[in-house]
Amino acid sequence: MDKLLIQGGTPLLGEIAISGAKNAALPILCASLLSSDPLHLTNLPRLRDVSTMLRLIEQMGVDVARTGDDGVVLDSHGLDNPLAPYDMVKTMRASILVLGPLLARHGEARVSLPGGCAIGARPVEQHIHGLQAMGAEIRVEHGYIHATAGAGGLRGARIVTDMVTVTGTENLMMAAVLADGETIIENAAREPEVVDLATCLIAMGAQISGAGTDRIRIRGVDRLHGATHPIMADRIETGTYLCAAAATRGDVRLTGTSAAYLDAVIDKLLDAGCDIVTERDAIRLKAPRRLKAVSVRTSPYPAFPTDMQAQFMAINCVAEGSAVIRETIFENRFMHAVELIRLGADIRIDASNAMVTGVEQLQGATVMATDLRASASLVIAGLVAQGETLIERIYHLDRGYERIEEKLGQLGAKVRRVR
Ligand code: EPU
Repeated sequence: MDKLLIQGGTPLLGEIAISGAKNAALPILCASLLSSDPLHLTNLPRLRDVSTMLRLIEQMGVDVARTGDDGVVLDSHGLDNPLAPYDMVKTMRASILVLGPLLARHGEARVSLPGGCAIGARPVEQHIHGLQAMGAEIRVEHGYIHATAGAGGLRGARIVTDMVTVTGTENLMMAAVLADGETIIENAAREPEVVDLATCLIAMGAQISGAGTDRIRIRGVDRLHGATHPIMADRIETGTYLCAAAATRGDVRLTGTSAAYLDAVIDKLLDAGCDIVTERDAIRLKAPRRLKAVSVRTSPYPAFPTDMQAQFMAINCVAEGSAVIRETIFENRFMHAVELIRLGADIRIDASNAMVTGVEQLQGATVMATDLRASASLVIAGLVAQGETLIERIYHLDRGYERIEEKLGQLGAKVRRVR
C-alpha cells in the first residue's frame, strides 16, 4: 500500500491548477444513465472514486471512451445490467447515486446497501423514502435494495426530506427528470455540486428550477438527449490547498477555481490572518507569520463544510490561541484528531466538539490516514511539522485529490510517494 513521505518545514510557494470536483463528477457520471445519447464531460478529475464510478457504470453496459486528458464520452444506449454489486458499493458509497437514474430510465435497479463508514453510519433511508413517494416499489433483502418503478414508471411527488442530504437530493432529482408530472424536493441540499448536476441535466433537456435553493422543482420529460458539460472546479481541493499554504506560511495562487462557493472557508482564513485576493478564475493566499486560531461549526452549504473540518483542525494545531471545532453533520468525523496528537498537537475531544490549542511546532511521525479529508489534514500537519512524517494508507487521499504529491511538489513541498 502506498505511503506519503513528507519532509516538513517548507513554505508552499507558487501556482497550481485546481481539478474538477469529485462530488460533482460522481453524480454527473450517473446522469449519463438517464439518456441513450452520449454525454460528453470535460474537466473530469483523475481520481480513484471517478475510476470506480466509471467501472461501475461500464459493467452496467455503458460505453466509456476517454477523450484527451480530462474528458470522457459516456454512451449508455446499451445499458442492460442495472446492478451495483456490494464489492463496488463498499469501496465507494456514492455508488448509491445510480439508484435514481436506473429506476427512472430502466424501471428497475438492484443496488447494494452501503454499510457504515469511517465517518458515521450514513444511512440512505431518505433516498428510499423519496423514491417510494414517486411510486417506486422497494424491498431491502440480503443487503440489496431491489427497486422497481412499476408499469407506468415513476410519477412526480412532493418530497420533504428529514434532513439536508446532498446525494439524497441528487438521487431524487435524477429520478424525477423522467417521471410523469412535477416533483418538488423540499429541504433540498443547496450545495454547488447539486447545482452543477442540475446544470448538466438541464443541458440534457431536463426541466429543473430552484437548484441552489432548498426547494427544487422538476417537471418530468419523456426523454433526455446528449450534451457536453464541464465539471465545476473542486471547492474542497481549493480549500485544502489554501489551508496548506496558510499553515506553511506560504504564498500560493490557485487557478481554474473560484471563490464563489468558498465564502465560509475564505471568511475563516481571513479571520486567521491570511491575506486573500480573489480573481474571476483564481485565488491567491498569502499567510501571516503565525495564524490566529479560528473556531468553526460545520453545517450544510452555504455554511462551513464538513469536508473542510479536518483541514481547519490541522491549521489550528499550529495557530496562536485556542479554537473549538464543532462537527454537526457526521457523528464520527474526528478520527484525524488522534493522529494529529501523535504529531504533537494539543486537542481535546468532547462528543462533537474538539478544543484545539495551537502549539509552536509539530513534530514528524508515522500516522495513519482514516478517510479522505482526515488524510488531507495529516498532509497539512506533515507539511508544517519538524522532520519527516510518513502517512500510511494514502489510498484514501487518491480517492479525492488528483496527483497530490505532484501538485504539492510544484509548490515546493518535499513530498514523495513510497510504494
Ligand atoms: N443522512 C441520513 N439519511 C439519509 C441521508 C443522509 O441520516 O438517507 C445523514 C447522514 O448520515 C449525515 C447527514 O445526513 O449525517 C448528511 O449526509 P449527506 O447525505 O448530505 O452526505 P452524502 O450525500 O452521503 C456528500 C458528500 C460528502 C460530504 C457530505 C456532506 C458526495 C459524493 N459526498 O455525502 O463528501 O461530506 O455530502 O456535505 O457528494 C467527501 O468528499 O470527503 C465526502 C465525505
